[in-house]
Order: sequence, then C-alpha cells, then structure tokens
Amino acid sequence: TRELPAGYTMRPIRAADYDRGVLDVLRVLTTVGDIQREEFEAQFNYWFKHNDTYFTLVIVNEFDRVVGVGSAVVERKLIHKCGNVTHIEDIAVARSEQGKKLGLHIIHALTDIGKSQGAYKVILDCSEDNVRFYEKCGFVRVGVEMSLKF
Ligand code: ACO
Repeated sequence: TRELPAGYTMRPIRAADYDRGVLDVLRVLTTVGDIQREEFEAQFNYWFKHNDTYFTLVIVNEFDRVVGVGSAVVERKLIHKCGNVTHIEDIAVARSEQGKKLGLHIIHALTDIGKSQGAYKVILDCSEDNVRFYEKCGFVRVGVEMSLKF
C-alpha cells in the first residue's frame, strides 16, 4: 500500500520546519552541525528558487513534528539525449519512528518526482547496512561508490 500510517503526512519542506525538528531527524543520519535559522533559511530559499532541481520532502506527525526527511536532486545531462538522472540523498527517519514504512514512502515519493521530471534513472549511495532497505524499495546494487573528502 502507498498510504501513510494514520496521523502522518508527507509534504515539501518549509522554512518553518527549522522549528519542527528536521535537523534532529537528520542527526540520525550524520553530523549536521550547529545551523542557525538564517543559514537554514538561505539554503531553503536557494532550493525554492531552483525548485525544478532540488526537492526535499518531510513526513510530519499529528503534532506537525518532522519524523522523516529525504531529498532528490535532478541532474540535467547531455548523455542519453540530454537526459536527467535523479539522485536520492539524505534519507532519515527518527529512530523512534523507524520500521513504520515511512522510509519506504519517502523513497517512493522521491522516485515519483524523478519520473515526473523525466529521469531515465534514479540513483543513490548507501552503506552496506542499508542495502536490504533499498532493495525493498525496488533498487538494485550497481557499481562502486568512490569519494574524495575535504
Ligand atoms: N536492513 C534491513 N532491512 C531494513 C532496514 C535495514 N537497515 N531498514 C529498513 N528495512 C526494511 C524494513 O524491515 C521493511 O521491510 P518489510 O517491508 O519487509 O517490513 C522495509 O525495509 C521498509 O522499511 P521502512 O519501515 O520504510 O524503513 P524506515 O522507515 O525505518 O527507514 C531508514 C529506513 C531510512 C534507513 C531508517 O532506518 C534511517 O533513517 N536510518 C538511519 C539513517 C540512514 O541510514 N539513512 C539512509 C542513508 S543512505 C541515503 O540517504 C541515500
């Protein structure tokens, strides 16, 4: 089923989500750092200005607290006849809310965004620990991720 559990809603991120716990949800994933409201709003405004490229969805509970988040970035290429690839990034569900299919709903919704933007594929990088989760979302393992960190 593609229905969220009762009491949960998915919607695009808003500037006001700064006060609704979105950064704490992302802390489940990685280091977020101390982000001031102005910095958050500047990033939000950039995404909003480029809203055919940056898509961030949140799931909120009945009290409008953010319990899940995920992003898609649409990359417009030359190959594949000027095709698009959609990258799924920064998926996180609050620890106490995991196992309720919220992650699955976020991935399905971001994948739909990719399709609606005309992407010929949707890709993501993840740790070995998350491979089963993404397989359950329909993804298959391809290639090797490499990185150069600064
Ligand atoms: N290993 C094996 N199976 C898993 C895992 C896992 N790590 N996580 C979820 N599953 C399974 C569930 O059991 C469920 O299976 P079922 O349909 O047979 O019942 C299915 O995958 C869907 O699970 P959800 O309930 O939708 O998963 P959840 O809402 O807990 O979200 C997530 C999964 C996002 C990985 C969450 O555990 C989380 O936030 N983890 C910490 C942050 C993180 O690692 N994020 C992903 C980083 S990769 C990236 O961002 C591209």
